[in-house]
Amino acid sequence: MDNNHITSLHHITICTGTAQGDIDFFVKVLGQRFVKRTLFYDGNIPIYHLYFADKTGTPGTVMTTFPTRRTGLKGRKGSNQFTVCTYSIPKGSLEWWVDHLNKHGIATGEPGTRFGQRFIGFSHPECGIDFEVLEDENDNREPFDSPYVPREKAQRGFHSWTASVRELEDMDVFMSSCWNFEKIGEEGNRHRYRVKDTDAAGTIIDILHEPDRRQGSWTIAEGIIHHGAFAVPDMEVQARIKFDTEGAGFTDFSDRKNRGYFESIYVRTPGGVMFEATHSLGFTHDEDEAMLGTDLKVSPQFDDKKHLIEQAMQDDPIVV
Ligand SMILES: [Fe+2]
Repeated sequence: MDNNHITSLHHITICTGTAQGDIDFFVKVLGQRFVKRTLFYDGNIPIYHLYFADKTGTPGTVMTTFPTRRTGLKGRKGSNQFTVCTYSIPKGSLEWWVDHLNKHGIATGEPGTRFGQRFIGFSHPECGIDFEVLEDENDNREPFDSPYVPREKAQRGFHSWTASVRELEDMDVFMSSCWNFEKIGEEGNRHRYRVKDTDAAGTIIDILHEPDRRQGSWTIAEGIIHHGAFAVPDMEVQARIKFDTEGAGFTDFSDRKNRGYFESIYVRTPGGVMFEATHSLGFTHDEDEAMLGTDLKVSPQFDDKKHLIEQAMQDDPIVV
């Protein structure tokens, strides 16, 4: 694998309902660790930014949420956005997961098989965002030891994310020429891409070709996946990817933004699905590993108002 390029999935960022709804779903149902509570780094309306991952926040396991209900903004699912987030589970554990989800009052779809692997779909119970668990016998990543999910059933992080596009051709060019992915399969309107020259876990993107599906929202609004972020080894590589991608004609790139725990650049891919290329700074520079997720880390624009922000956020309480 070319280590001087995109190497894997990193994190996915979604707009949900309430902070507690995310704790209940990602910690108590999916068995992730709550590793960071901070605030959205953009804008003047304080919104929590919550991070769920494995023990230390390994790229490819990081779910980040904006509990958006307090703003009143509702998003519209549709094309030209990420539509489904799929976690990887051990082979033979699918029935356990159906039972586990149902016991928590979460309805599951009919089991299906995709590229020879079994999966089921379900939704975040508060905000309706779509999820799957999929049996991947090749995923050897170490799971987080959750008190809520037995280790032998535990999810390992992301298997893949699905994005919907109305036009496939330019997205195919973007994936292969700019983003270091190659097409590895096709099933119906599903086009599977994987980071070039690797068979590591957490490296797959499925692109659904849905020419008649209405455009989904791009705003920070409840019920949609906002963007997917991909790992780069350092900021030099990140800068080169931006330069080369702009050279290919895709100029809708942001400047580099410090996100406290990553350095990020964002790009609108040809159909409009938002991608990020990010370099991890780690989660332990402002909190010890044992204490991750316990203290509110106020984002820079609110730095001088921590007390006011803590009061303001009391309408969205968190009990872990
Ligand atoms: Fe991000």
